[in-house]
Amino acid sequence: MHINFFVLGANHTLSKIDIINILFKKGIEIEILGASEELLIVKTERGIEASSLINELGSAVKIGEVFRIYAKEDFFDSFLKDVIKEDFNRFFLPNGAKNVCFGISVYGGGGKFKDVNEVFYRVSGLEREIKEKLEKIGFRVNYIKRREKELSSVIVNKKNLLRQGFEIVLGVGEKEVYVGKTLAIQDYKSYSLRDYGRPARDPRAGMIPPKLAKILINLVLKDKDKTMLDPFCGSGTILQEEVLLGYKNLIGSDSSEKSIKDTQTNLNWLFEKFNLNRENYLIRVFKEDVQKIASKINFKTVDAIITEPYLGSPRAKSFHLGLIEKEIVKLGRLYLAAFGEFKKVLRDDGVVAIIFPVFRFGGQFYHLDIMDGIYALGFKKRELLINKPLGFEKLNLKLTSRGGVIFFRPGQTVSREIFVFEKN
Ligand SMILES: C[S@@+](CC[C@H](N)C(=O)[O-])C[C@H]1O[C@@H](n2cnc3c(N)ncnc32)[C@H](O)[C@@H]1O
Repeated sequence: MHINFFVLGANHTLSKIDIINILFKKGIEIEILGASEELLIVKTERGIEASSLINELGSAVKIGEVFRIYAKEDFFDSFLKDVIKEDFNRFFLPNGAKNVCFGISVYGGGGKFKDVNEVFYRVSGLEREIKEKLEKIGFRVNYIKRREKELSSVIVNKKNLLRQGFEIVLGVGEKEVYVGKTLAIQDYKSYSLRDYGRPARDPRAGMIPPKLAKILINLVLKDKDKTMLDPFCGSGTILQEEVLLGYKNLIGSDSSEKSIKDTQTNLNWLFEKFNLNRENYLIRVFKEDVQKIASKINFKTVDAIITEPYLGSPRAKSFHLGLIEKEIVKLGRLYLAAFGEFKKVLRDDGVVAIIFPVFRFGGQFYHLDIMDGIYALGFKKRELLINKPLGFEKLNLKLTSRGGVIFFRPGQTVSREIFVFEKN
């Protein structure tokens, strides 16, 4: 039996769904032991491959394994008693190294805010005692002094904690403290390169963050040989993440000539930068209005449509309510026409993972009222979480009344609501 923890991304609901769905697809049965907005703790029969899994997920910031679970009341004393015992050494200390550096991060693991803080305030003492104990048995030890509750992935990476030391993670649950060690961290440098380092960027038309693109791709749960379409490809972020995830059959289209050029430029850059052989991929990118997309793609040949469509005028920030309402009607027509075409090109078991815009005005949310229209076209909504594991009730997922998830960034007028549909 193994217990793993996942430090979650900014949108905890999407992170949890992403992690649980991917583990399910891999055939790894899990039980949820604890969950908060920061942490997900799961029990599995067989362990997980943390370093490859973190690259597959768009959501987890850190993945680690739990060493032991302690009762909250006497956590400090019990844990300190275990430090330098043989199993502690085997679990935490990298083979053979005599110079080690460690750090401690504290996360809420379902416990009360007050309890999390209480643990955090005592961490400096814990760090000193662990250092002294390890020095007594011949190690040269440094530890990272922090001001925040948790160490960032950047620090964990810079201090080489995963190879020349360890990061202890304390997950504070309702009655217990989970003590674990980080095994893998998100490749933040690569994400930043894929977002800001690309040659063609179009902030005006909008670009989906690469991590969100990956979450969306993962939501359809399709195998790597399936045909994936993005009919609003923009600068090609979703196609780019599909290539990196190992999808080989891709179609991208957009009504704008500039977007098609941007997508091609970015894909060329990606193949070169990531040293991938283009001959192993079948990628078609062309200009077409989504409302006529079935004229360019054979019927029932697409396995999944993953897309962030046009989310409305970039001027929506300054719109008054009347204009927002008009924009919503206009977008609704475009989306329904798009679903009409999706119906034709999708295989019978085809899936659509899509973003709908949600406008905010005067503290209220306004969304496209097109669900019935989509159902009438022959689609049904699919649950975002494909399978409910044991302990599901601990997840506390934040879903909208329509069963979607809102992805919101402070300062944005238009939020994104995420849905998955399948053919009826
Ligand atoms: C929000 S952007 C998509 C950005 C893309 N996800 C990315 O990360 O680069 C929306 C795209 O929809 C395209 N578009 C707008 N109306 C369209 C239509 N009727 N048919 C096809 N594409 C359209 C725009 O040219 C724009 O590139």
